[in-house]
Amino acid sequence: MGVLHIWIALVFGLCLGFCVAEEEASTTDHELLLLTIATEENDGFRQFMRSAKKYDLDVKVFGLGVEWRGGNMESVGGGHKINILKENLRPYRNKKNLILMFVDSYDVILTAGKEAILERFSKSGARVLFAAEDTCWPDRSLADKYPAVKASEKRYLNSGGFIGHAAEVVDMVDYQPIADDEDDQLYYTKIFLNRVLRHDWNIKLDTRAEIFQNLNHALGEVLIKYKGDHSYMYNVKTGTAPIVIHGNGPIKPEFFRMANYLADGWTSTEGCQSCKEDLIDLTSLKEADYPTVLIALFVEYRTPFIREFFQRVAGLSYPRSKIQIYIHNAEDFHTKDVKKFLEEYEDHYSRVIVTSPEKRVSERVARDWAVEECMRTNCNYLFSVDSIVQMTEPSLLTDLITQNRSIIAPLLKRPGKLWSNFWGALSHDNFYARSEDYMDIIEYKKLGLWNVPHISHTLLIQGHKLPALKGAHSFNLNVDADMSFCQAARAKMVFMYVNNQAYWGHLVYADHYDTSHLNNELFDIFNNPLDWKERYIHKDYAKALEDDAEIEMPCPDVYWFPIVTDTFCDEFVAEFENYGQWSSGKNNDPRLSGGYENVPTVDIHMNQVGLEQQWLHFLAVYVRPLQEKVFAGYYHDPPQAIMNFIVRYKPEEQPLLRPHNDASTYTINIALNRPGIDFEGGGCRFVRYNCSITSPRKGWMFMHPGRLTHHHEGLRTTAGTRYIMISFVDP
Ligand SMILES: *[C@@H]1O[C@H](CO)[C@@H](O)[C@H](O)[C@H]1NC(C)=O
Ligand SMILES: *[C@@H]1O[C@H](CO)[C@@H](O)[C@H](O)[C@H]1NC(C)=O
Repeated sequence: MGVLHIWIALVFGLCLGFCVAEEEASTTDHELLLLTIATEENDGFRQFMRSAKKYDLDVKVFGLGVEWRGGNMESVGGGHKINILKENLRPYRNKKNLILMFVDSYDVILTAGKEAILERFSKSGARVLFAAEDTCWPDRSLADKYPAVKASEKRYLNSGGFIGHAAEVVDMVDYQPIADDEDDQLYYTKIFLNRVLRHDWNIKLDTRAEIFQNLNHALGEVLIKYKGDHSYMYNVKTGTAPIVIHGNGPIKPEFFRMANYLADGWTSTEGCQSCKEDLIDLTSLKEADYPTVLIALFVEYRTPFIREFFQRVAGLSYPRSKIQIYIHNAEDFHTKDVKKFLEEYEDHYSRVIVTSPEKRVSERVARDWAVEECMRTNCNYLFSVDSIVQMTEPSLLTDLITQNRSIIAPLLKRPGKLWSNFWGALSHDNFYARSEDYMDIIEYKKLGLWNVPHISHTLLIQGHKLPALKGAHSFNLNVDADMSFCQAARAKMVFMYVNNQAYWGHLVYADHYDTSHLNNELFDIFNNPLDWKERYIHKDYAKALEDDAEIEMPCPDVYWFPIVTDTFCDEFVAEFENYGQWSSGKNNDPRLSGGYENVPTVDIHMNQVGLEQQWLHFLAVYVRPLQEKVFAGYYHDPPQAIMNFIVRYKPEEQPLLRPHNDASTYTINIALNRPGIDFEGGGCRFVRYNCSITSPRKGWMFMHPGRLTHHHEGLRTTAGTRYIMISFVDP
């Protein structure tokens, strides 16, 4: 060993001896008992207890079931806490080797266990160590009386957390009487600022947040970090990783957001660990043992694709005998849709209740009524769903129940948009603000259960939470019912989780829903492209685009594809028949720029019914890829087409069309109804190849070159009415 090493060993040994003699003996082998006060077991408390259990901490909870007399936690008050401690702590006064740590619970989460806590307490050299913060409260005038600290340190006492030897803690709590509504922080502050007491009890403040981190006014100095499969909070200002994280003051939403990650709730390597805890298993239940659910459906405004909405409600995989349905319909426009749902399903459910538009029941009242009705009938869950929600996964309801949370919603978005059904954060006036992790959540980059300040449109609420939420939609009459509800839930500390562990559905966009047509959804391709596709595009459409697709060619260079659904064909024909202004089939056609049609048909142009833009979009999105597949090398995006029209053939009107060439690069021809059923005869013959297609398939499209090669004629329709949709693409 060199001289230098001896010196280091010597100095180190001396220092250790000196420190231990001067300060406290190490407490790392002491017992640690965590004390907290909670008058009710709300979700904040459960979150706290989860973290305590996770780190194997012994917790003593005082005050459960006691009526709280300490005032609003956000303002002065809290003397009641000290009085509860006075009543309960005396038996611990003379316990040697016992360290007591008091923390609040509703807004506290722990991130480490006994060993780390005692080690840091021991290092502090104090007999009692209080949490600290940057603001002096509730009496600012006392600020100057505090000992000075370094710029990076916290100077003022916070009573939300302290740790100390049992004797000192009990004496301190017992020191003076305090009224329940007096301020506990002021009580401890005065003790700390009393030099004699401070010295006798050896009280210090945790100025570097070694153990206690108060988040009020400190959000900017903390980060969530990960180490292996553990998460922790790091304070960049003090360079410490505090253990007791306290969401004191008005920053609760931000605290709860961080708490999603803390105590290993979510980690970068393991993902959502808290998602796997306390699950409710429905899979082994017999139908009769399933929990009862009141499904409340809210139709508050005109909503596209409501037919699918109701189908999806009916399609939930859950025993219908255990479901009551309540429908609040505020729109005359949708009365027929509600009626249709009832006709089909009313008898399947245990009970169905409808409030129709003429009752003029407001949304707020209807939503509050659903809460009370669920309570009145002792239902196990209230599941409320708004008409803009498309629940595409039938397992949604059971998946949400399984997670066992007070209030839970699936993540729902407008496809392709940033708009969703939750808020990650609140602005200062309680409106929407984007949280740091909002994008990661809506883009499914982080999967989990996220306690958020606002959710809407689809909520599953556990029945035992309903009493706390009675009247919640009327809690704040100055804001919308959903905002009012969420404010109430936050005030009652009922957590609202958004679940993005899977994809369960999406939101339709109802704001610019044009309801002036017979089949309004046909026109809605821009606002709701996904729903449009599901209703109108043939289920086999995409097969033709696969690499090894075999595409039918019934005549030379005439390709045949499934493209639209039967529903499309039916609605399309009905829309044009409803419009009704069929052309005469004469050569003179005032709709054309030249006023003359060489080969006239009885038809209606797409622009006459206002579908032209939608149709061009359809050509670009659905037809062009097929064209590139079969006529490779020709590329024209977007496709142009001036002539887009529906043709009607019938024996007594126009039964056929003489041979002609189309003024197009290529032509598409979609059959809109069925040969042999809706009409007899018909079909198309390509003259040059003497090749006829006489059995068109409804919803299928021909594509063939125009102009030079594909001289063709429409064959005679001998009975019924035949409809086809034609576009001359790239004229
Ligand atoms: C559901 O969660 C609560 C705590 O929030 C827990 O007490 C209960 O045991 C859980 N249920 C199941 C079936 O795990
Ligand atoms: C065209 O085909 C039909 C039968 O498919 C045949 O009867 C007819 O003779 C053919 N016409 C010519 C000009 O080849």
